[in-house]
Amino acid sequence: MKKHEIKNHFYNTKTLVELWRDFIDWDKRREGENGFLKKLLLGRRRVFESCLGEGCDTIYLTKEGFDVTSNEIDTLFADKAKDNAQKEGVGLKITTFDWRDIDKKFKEGQFDAVLCLGNSLTYLFSKNDQIKTLKNFRFILKRKGILIIDERNYQYFLDDAESILKGGFRYSGKYTYCGTKVHGRPVEIEENKVVMEYEDERTGKKAYLVLYPFRRGEFLSLLREAGFRKITIYSDFKEGYNKNADFYQYVAVK
Ligand SMILES: C[S@@+](CC[C@H](N)C(=O)[O-])C[C@H]1O[C@@H](n2cnc3c(N)ncnc32)[C@H](O)[C@@H]1O
Repeated sequence: MKKHEIKNHFYNTKTLVELWRDFIDWDKRREGENGFLKKLLLGRRRVFESCLGEGCDTIYLTKEGFDVTSNEIDTLFADKAKDNAQKEGVGLKITTFDWRDIDKKFKEGQFDAVLCLGNSLTYLFSKNDQIKTLKNFRFILKRKGILIIDERNYQYFLDDAESILKGGFRYSGKYTYCGTKVHGRPVEIEENKVVMEYEDERTGKKAYLVLYPFRRGEFLSLLREAGFRKITIYSDFKEGYNKNADFYQYVAVK
């Protein structure tokens, strides 16, 4: 496979933003999580969504009555979220910070819950940055506040790289990214780097992301190292570890 020309891992092309809604499928994302977020957030009003994207989860939670502050560092995504929110008649509170700086931007204990969903921590490659980000999320949580964060099934990518790259990528499409017209699949898999390709089957348009593949157990260790003690793991929104899941969610209590 020829290497793709990608400048760096933090490169959100206009095409990526264009494709994102059909990659998610907003209704199917809600079906897949089946009330998971609402249940966890019950009684926790002040929510910080650390990566707004184009607004799918923030718009839903705002409509459900939560007081959501949403962060999006990428202006193309933030603009798209504003458009989407306006169409839905929802107001957004947007900040534009780098996760690594948010301890300087918010007060300690300002939020009841922090969300970092859609497989986003994977944008950061260095352990220092990952830990700093998780520590910052913990810092802005009040005592007993919760971080809800997820990752992809990267160990499967690493274990089955050869067959995946030959076209045998296994993906249920039922959780988190559920679109049927835009497909995401890895096109490069290395020990410390995965390149994901997103393709719209109707137009042939493609976008790429370069991401860091966490090994089995690595994410949990990072959360512990960042100071979280009570951590529950879910596999495709079901409590416990299932090696065949597409995504793993962690609920970490401060
Ligand atoms: C895979 S997208 C997920 C977006 C959304 N949560 C969803 O589920 O569709 C990852 C998001 O993380 C944001 N992001 C990546 N690195 C970041 C950083 N260092 N600080 C703040 N946001 C960052 C990107 O701008 C992007 O919107």
